[in-house]
Parts: sequence; structure tokens; C-alpha cells
Amino acid sequence: MNKFFSVADVDSLDAIVKEALALKANPHAHEALGKYKTLGLVFLNPSLRTRLSTQKAAMNLGMNVMVMNMDKDGWALETRDGVVMNGTTVEHIREAAAVMGEYCDILGLRSFPSLKDKEADYNEDLFNKFIKYCGVPVVSLESATRHPLQSLTDLITISEHKKSEKPKVVLAWAPHVKALPQAVPNSFAEWMSKAQEQGLVDFTIAHPKGYELSEEFTTGATISHDLSSALTEADFVYVKNWSSYKEYGQVYPVSENWMMNNEKLALTNNAKVMHCLPVRRDLELSSEILDGPNSLVIQEASNRVWAAQVVLKRMLEDLK
Ligand code: CP
Repeated sequence: MNKFFSVADVDSLDAIVKEALALKANPHAHEALGKYKTLGLVFLNPSLRTRLSTQKAAMNLGMNVMVMNMDKDGWALETRDGVVMNGTTVEHIREAAAVMGEYCDILGLRSFPSLKDKEADYNEDLFNKFIKYCGVPVVSLESATRHPLQSLTDLITISEHKKSEKPKVVLAWAPHVKALPQAVPNSFAEWMSKAQEQGLVDFTIAHPKGYELSEEFTTGATISHDLSSALTEADFVYVKNWSSYKEYGQVYPVSENWMMNNEKLALTNNAKVMHCLPVRRDLELSSEILDGPNSLVIQEASNRVWAAQVVLKRMLEDLK
């Protein structure tokens, strides 16, 4: 593996989940693999889970890790080509990425979307330039359109906690006060659609009208605008807010109450409730669920280590 950007970078979902769970059972089995190898983690946006779990995964594999908070500590990056840099940007991504590639064997990058320029965001302009110019394998720590380490984690967590061969998984839109990216729900939909193709889950997306995700990510999913009917017989409910894709980055008023709570949980098959975190309590998801027996949010965050570790392991094995 020399790139981890989307579900297309993984052949068998079942095989990568089994490999991740083997690492969970024996975290230090491959600690010689990363000896003298350096992982660079580059953040253009904030992070708790991705930053710490990926560092922990790399350390379990014996790697050295360097973290660069570009947004706070780096030079202001220029990503456009052919511009005279006489404004506020100080360093072009061509040089910045190439230099980081000189110091590191593998790089990770987190970059959020603008939510203003749909074309640039959905072309993954910044991410593709970083991959092109750094010259080493790159793992996405969340890009404008996807969060693959989170989605792999979610699949691992569902595999661990499922009580039937093909559980019903519902991605449920939730309210928020800000316009949030579509990266987590796009990615979850993309991974669950592939899992459905491979016979691993039955997948439904529930959201109010106007919050349709790009069809590129939702092939094969059942789509509902009625949360109560979507929740019927659900085994897992994945709660997440996102802004509009069609009216890009916009937030529409929603009159019905879409916050997941115990009343809605009663409609499900005693579903386990997931959220990628950070979560706004009693806005997106009720405290009664977060503090109750059906919440998987901490176990899910814990599994971020094994998702990162299996990806780094595969990259290290393929380094020349
Ligand atoms: N879920 C997730 O990616 O968390 P962070 O933004 O804190 O890394």
C-alpha cells in the first residue's frame, strides 16, 4: 500500500478488519518493522483522536514520529500554480511537501474543505498536490471529502459488536450549530456501501430533504427522509451532522427533531450508537445515550489505533 485515501485503496474489507483485530490482540508483534523509519503527521486543522491514535499506532510499530501543525507553526502555504506570491502566502506546496518527503518515510495529512469552493474541495486539489510533490506514501488523516481512517475504524467496531451476520446500519443526520464538512458521512457511506456489496451489512442513510450526499458515495444505500422508519430494526446507528452538498456548505432549518435520544433508540433493535467525536452533547446526541449502555463512542475512538496501525503496517511492508 502506498496511499490510503479511500475505500478503493483496500481490496478485501474482511481481510483488513481481521488484520486490524490481530494487531489489537498483539499490538507489539511487528515492533521491528518500523525501526529507523519516520512518520510525519501534518495537520492543517485541529485534531485529538487522529493525532494521538496515529502516533500510538506508529510507536507500536517501532517508528519515530514527527508532528507538524502547519496551521499554527508552519509558513502560510500557497497551493495555486502560476501565481506571483506577493500576498500573504510564504511557501509553495511544491517545496513544502517535497522537503517533508525528504525527512519522512511515510507522511499523513489532514486538510479540511473550504466549504466555499465545491469544485476545488471535491477535486481534492490540495491533497493531490501534496501526494504528487512529497514523493513518499501518504495516509489521509481526513481530507476535504473523506476520512478513511475513521471509516475503517467504524467497520472494525461494527465487526466487533455485531450480533448477526448482516446487521442493519443506519447513518443518521443530526442537528448542529455550524456548517460541517461532508467528509465523515461521505466516507462512512462509501465504506458501508462496499461492505454491503460484500454482504457484510445492510445500509440505510436517513437525513432531512436538502441534505443529500453526493451520489458518488451512496451507491446501493437505502435513503430515507423519515428517521423513525429508518431506525426500525437498526442494529447500529451512526450519528453525524453534515452541511448541504447541493447548496454547497449551506445549512437549512429543519423543523423535526433529528437528535438521537432514548425515545428514538426504542424504535431500534436495541442498537449500538456510534459517533466519530467530537460530539456536541444534547444537540447532536443526547447525554442519556452517550452515558448509557448503548453508546460505543469510546470503544470506537479506541479502535482508531488499530485502523491506523494496519494501514501503517501495510505501507511499511511495501516500502522499497
Ligand atoms: N474523529 C476524529 O477524527 O477526531 P479528531 O478530529 O479529534 O481527530
